[in-house]
Amino acid sequence: MLITQTIDDTRSAVDAAKAHGRRVGLVPTMGFLHEGHLSLIDVARSAGAEFIVVSIFVNPRQFGPNEDFARYPRDEDGDVRLLLGKDVDVLFLPAVETMYPPGSQTTVSVGAVAKPLEGARRPGHFDGVATIVLKLFEIVQPDVAAFGRKDAQQCAVIDRMVRDLDLPVSLAFGETMREPDGLAMSSRNSYLTPEQRAIAPVLHRALRAGEDALRHDVESVDSIERLMHTVAAEGAGVEVDYLALVDPETFEPPVDFDRDLLVAGAVRIGKTRLIDNIRIPKEAIPHTKIG
Ligand code: PAF
Repeated sequence: MLITQTIDDTRSAVDAAKAHGRRVGLVPTMGFLHEGHLSLIDVARSAGAEFIVVSIFVNPRQFGPNEDFARYPRDEDGDVRLLLGKDVDVLFLPAVETMYPPGSQTTVSVGAVAKPLEGARRPGHFDGVATIVLKLFEIVQPDVAAFGRKDAQQCAVIDRMVRDLDLPVSLAFGETMREPDGLAMSSRNSYLTPEQRAIAPVLHRALRAGEDALRHDVESVDSIERLMHTVAAEGAGVEVDYLALVDPETFEPPVDFDRDLLVAGAVRIGKTRLIDNIRIPKEAIPHTKIG
């Protein structure tokens, strides 16, 4: 595995692979890798990538002033060890000044899909995500790029950007990897104390309750959201940021039940903010009634 820190070295490695006719896959990450990230390497390969570039960059522009940029977990040696086990070709590890040299002033801003839920609670977050992802696409010029569905709205924002800007990359989305008790894998789980970790699966349980209600006989968005709040309240000290039933294309409340739907949630446990979601296919939703 070649480790690059500069844009030129990364481009040279990719150019050489492309010259040999290899399809390039990119897996952008912020490091502190876990099974969820590693599964995205397999997702990129299944989508046809033959030469895998993983990037690790804790992107300051996607963190708000009161968020966890400074304490975001980092473990470069551990990440390198995990990637060596996955036959990765290039690990791109740029410094902040490489990605945002002094004087840098361009931001990519995706429209309506970036506004609700995470967009409303984390102003500027998706601008930061779209800007860094576009820059990574420009540097690596991947044929395929893989992202995890745990960040469902991020996937939709990136998909919108790719379509709006006619970017020549296919996106591949990986299913959320979970701990045995249902907790979605996340680098931020490492912040949880043992007591908080024991409570954390309540987010997934709340979303499962919403999913079950939707698959059975519940008639309104309100009643599903109330049910999810009731389940989340079982977790001592859990503060709900949102628990919502939304249209997975717009992330707004659905206009009817005749489409795929998404239950999505964000909660705070102590200083840790966790997100998760479950997509429910249209075929599994019996109702056409909505309120
Ligand atoms: O999902 C993440 O880890 C980040 O948002 C991403 C896509 C690597 C951009 O910084």
